[in-house]
Amino acid sequence: KSNTVAKTLGGKLYFGSATDNPELSDATYVAKLGDNTLFGQITPGNSMKWDSTEPSRGVFTFTNGDTVTSLAKKNGQLIRGHTCVWYNQLAGWVTSGNFNASTLTSILQTHCSTLVSHWAGQIYSWDVVNEPFNDDGTVRSFVFSLAGGTVPNLNYITTALVAARAADPKAKLYINDYNIDSAGAKSTAMQNLVKSLKAAGTPIDGIGIQGHLIVGQVPSKAALIANYQAFTALGVEIAITELDIRMTLPETPALRAQQQTDYNTVVSACKAVTGCVGVTIWDYTDKYSWVPGVFSGQGAALPWDNNLVIKPAYDGIIAGF
Ligand code: XIL
Repeated sequence: KSNTVAKTLGGKLYFGSATDNPELSDATYVAKLGDNTLFGQITPGNSMKWDSTEPSRGVFTFTNGDTVTSLAKKNGQLIRGHTCVWYNQLAGWVTSGNFNASTLTSILQTHCSTLVSHWAGQIYSWDVVNEPFNDDGTVRSFVFSLAGGTVPNLNYITTALVAARAADPKAKLYINDYNIDSAGAKSTAMQNLVKSLKAAGTPIDGIGIQGHLIVGQVPSKAALIANYQAFTALGVEIAITELDIRMTLPETPALRAQQQTDYNTVVSACKAVTGCVGVTIWDYTDKYSWVPGVFSGQGAALPWDNNLVIKPAYDGIIAGF
């Protein structure tokens, strides 16, 4: 097969990559990122997050996000927005402000509305809400789910989704999380959330499945498909939004071969499910992967190596499309 993978919607999956502003000074890296016969979609890895966009209350900085969106537009690539509200990389003033519930609602409305308005008309889909659940399916506790109280709840999600819809009626609104690849408590919690949002008439268009996976521990294709279909049966689309498949270093030929199989499993499972619209890898080269910095002793999670040379994983992806 050629390296021309699907890049548009309408029956075909997009293949995309995250990127981040510091890497954009690397000309070799940027050249490949901009190849829209390979990557049809781009996600800014950090530059739309709260700490980057509203570092002080009411002071918005869109420069780095604009750099990424301009590049993607120049190259004819779809853009996924990431993210309005997340417990992590949240500005310090929000968490330490001791705000009451109604002030927090207003802070969240202003943030989502301003963020989504800024790029209105340019974004295919927004991860409006990121990582709302703990792994056991309970609601993650942080400033917005606590809302000035002591018991976490999901009400802030409605606030964020409603604000996002009003700000950009064309963007698909997603809730994004990890460890929801196959059936389990967290996947069930996500399904229940989407059901209740739909029942209440709250705007929700998609579930983002991050897909931060481990070589040799990827669920079977059948298990992935069954879970993906449980999501799409709710009347939403899905996407694999942050795929990477890490290994305990050092990289060996056997691990690379298993990784090729694992990438193929995920991509082909998405392809098999109507309503799975695309696969985004969380950057394309090991040179800029977040994995080694966060998972000690692990890495080599992406299809291009540190020198931007393709690995067997690449062939697994291409075969999966
Ligand atoms: C990561 C970025 O890639 C890193 O550069 C940053 O230091 C931490 O966040 N889930 C998400 C992403 O939704 O936003 C995270 O991105 C990876 C895990």
